[in-house]
This record gives sequence, structure tokens and C-alpha cells, in this order.
Amino acid sequence: MSFNPLEEKGLPIEKQVRNWHQIVGRPYNKTDVDCYTRTRQILMNGIEVEAWGFKHQLNRFVPDNNDKELIARISRIEDSQQATANWMGPADQSVLETTLGYEQVAVDLTAWMAQNEPDDYVKETFDFGLLEDFDHLYRYSQFAYMVEGIEPDAIVQGQTDVIIGRPTQHHHNCNGLRIRKPYDKMTAHPQTKVNILTLLSGEQQTHNYYAEHGFMYGDHVLRETYAEIKDVEEEHVTMYESLIDPTETMWEKFLLHEFTEVCNYYTCMEDETDNRIKKTWELFLDIELGHLKVAADLFKKYEKRDPEEVIGNEIVIPCRFMSQKDYVQKVLEKEADKRLESEGKYTTIEKLREDWASYKVQEKQNEISSPSENSVRLAEIYHNRDIVSADKELKDKEVEILTKGLQKRGLANNTVLPDELEKMIKTDEKMKEKKEKLI
Ligand SMILES: [Fe+2]
Ligand SMILES: [Fe+2]
Ligand SMILES: [Fe+2]
Ligand SMILES: [Fe+2]
Repeated sequence: MSFNPLEEKGLPIEKQVRNWHQIVGRPYNKTDVDCYTRTRQILMNGIEVEAWGFKHQLNRFVPDNNDKELIARISRIEDSQQATANWMGPADQSVLETTLGYEQVAVDLTAWMAQNEPDDYVKETFDFGLLEDFDHLYRYSQFAYMVEGIEPDAIVQGQTDVIIGRPTQHHHNCNGLRIRKPYDKMTAHPQTKVNILTLLSGEQQTHNYYAEHGFMYGDHVLRETYAEIKDVEEEHVTMYESLIDPTETMWEKFLLHEFTEVCNYYTCMEDETDNRIKKTWELFLDIELGHLKVAADLFKKYEKRDPEEVIGNEIVIPCRFMSQKDYVQKVLEKEADKRLESEGKYTTIEKLREDWASYKVQEKQNEISSPSENSVRLAEIYHNRDIVSADKELKDKEVEILTKGLQKRGLANNTVLPDELEKMIKTDEKMKEKKEKLI
């Protein structure tokens, strides 16, 4: 790859203002959109929300009025890009349908990054988070079927498996355990920096989406499930941001934010199959190159350093959205029993000490019940068994995966135990046989 964004001028800031018609385009059609067009749209909304929010934080520390005005102009542009990206989503795409899209982003983005991450420790953290979002997709899929009659494949289009992961009730941790070891800004590869900032932006927006929309359903168990999973996304934000070197300066972060936007739009532009949306990604790449130029100039002015020291001299690819089933399955079979340990370490269920710090959190949060466990209990009433979408080989391992992922302590009273899940699956098979005979 020979594209050096620092050598590009991009669109000058004064030409970046667009009219309302350009800002609010025509939404995609939820019935014929490619699932990876939707994941790109969801991710880029998250990237823009972070780009906008960061610039406002930055500007509260900038004393020079000219620089302050320039940053204010850019944050306004980020805001308009956010509207364009987010409002590509159509009005008839329900909150649950969009939610399945969000978790598909998390699964396929994290899996791609884990395989393309140069830092082994960061990769391990991606693999860890992967199995949690994978389980969220499964829990929400139960409700999508029960509340709106939607099969998960209507959204994930067979590209992402939907089956039990590391059970959500065990994602609740003592905050101290979520804190991971940061990379060293002087030696970390730009790929690592962009990967983390991209994923962090996605997780933050996922949290915000659940926070703003989870109340919109009347079903109480679903409302509680949104609250439960939102809290896990909060933990994910803590976990991924803790990987960032805390000594990075605000100007360095500004540079990294714009570089991350450039890299993501570059990839969107290359991968987009919808020609109309591709044109937006092309324009936004040009806009971000303009932002990067400003960020590089201010970095040089305030830090007297070469931007290349931070972002290198070529683009990196944060994610090619495509099916990651084989990789996810491999991690799932190996790591459902993995747990967080203090000092940024990892451990497994069988090695947990009696005083493991997350037990207390899980015992308190799940003391009445775990809503995400009730999702499967309700699915049994509606459907005989849980809603899954995977090939037979993986489906046959579901009880085994659950057995591996469940802790003995910190277990909610309403936990669906492996023998209960097995019984549900057998009952469902018998019912199907009966139905076939009747036909
Ligand atoms: Fe932007
Ligand atoms: Fe999630
Ligand atoms: Fe997440
Ligand atoms: Fe930007």
C-alpha cells in the first residue's frame, strides 16, 4: 500500500460545509441492503460521534482563539458527517434490528482486528471482548424473534453465527479487572493505535445506542436486558481505552483521531458495494484528509515533532467487513471459560481464587435474576428452544460451550443450566419430527 495521507491536501475546511439536502440523504432499504453496508454505516456513525466528542474536550484546553475557531469548525463538520452516516439507517428498521446490526459490527470487526493486530497482548484483549459481544448477539436474537418475529439472518444474512458465547451474566466485572496494560506510544505500530481507537469508538456508540433506545420496548425483560448489556458495553469502553498509552498528549490524540477517520473511510470507500453510499465515503475521505492536515499542522506547532512519529507514512486498514465464522468458532471453543485477572492478566474459571474481585459484582448485579438468562427461558416458551443460526456442527457443540463458559460461583438463580438447554434442544427435535409426520 503506498497511500501516504500526510502528503494529501484533502478538501479545505472552508469547502466542507454542505446543505441540508446533502447532509440528510436517502436512507438505504433494510430489506435489500448488504449486511456489511449496514455494519460500515453503524461503525462510521460511532467513529464520527467519538471524533466530535473528542474535539469538544480538546477545545476546552485550547487558549489560542484562532486555533479554537478552527477546531470548532471541524467539530461542526464531524457533527454533520455523523448525521449523514447515522441517518442512512431507515425509519422502518426497528431498534432490535439495528441492535443486531450493532452486535454484528462488534463480532466481525473485533475478529478481523484480532487477526491483523501486531501486538499479541492487544490481540488477546480483542479475542476476550469478541466472545462477549458474540453472546450479546445471541441474547438479542431471542427477543428479535419473540417481540418482532425477526429471524437473526434477516439482519446478519448468514455471515455471522448466532449461538451462545461466554454467558452475558459473567461479563460483569470489578472495574479494576477491566483495566488492561497500555501500549507504549513510542514503539506501538500505527495499526495498533488505529485498531483500538476504531473499536473503542464502536463500543462507545453501542453503549450510547442501548442507553438511548433500551427503554423503547414495553417488554420488561427486554428493557432489563438492554440495561444489562449496556453495562457490559460500558465495561468494554473502559477495557479498550485502558490499552491506550496514558501519556499521549491531546495534540497527539487529535492527530490519531483524524488518521483513524482517514483509514476507516479509505477502507469503506474500497469495500463499499452500494455505489450511492460509496460516493459519500469518497467525499468523507477527502474531508478527513483536510482535517488530518490541520491536526498535523497543530501537532507540529505545539509539539515541535514530526507527525510521522505517531502515525507513520502510510494508511492502515482497520477492518475489512466479511464473514469471520471460522475464526470466531475457534476462539469460542477455546476461550469461553476465560476470565479477567488483576494487573491486566487473564485466567480461566478453574483457576479463580475464592476472593476473585468480580464475584461480588456478579452476585450483587444478578441477585434477583439475570435478564439475559431469561431471554432463553422465554424463547423456550415461544419456540421450544433458543433461537440459533449456525451450521449443524457448531449447533451440536452448544451444550458443551455452555458447560465450559458457566462459573460455579456468581451464578444467577435463573441460569439456564446445560442439562436444561439439552432438554430444550431434544424437545424441539421431537416436536419437529411430530410436525413432519402430521404433514
Ligand atoms: Fe469525521
Ligand atoms: Fe455487545
Ligand atoms: Fe461490546
Ligand atoms: Fe475528522
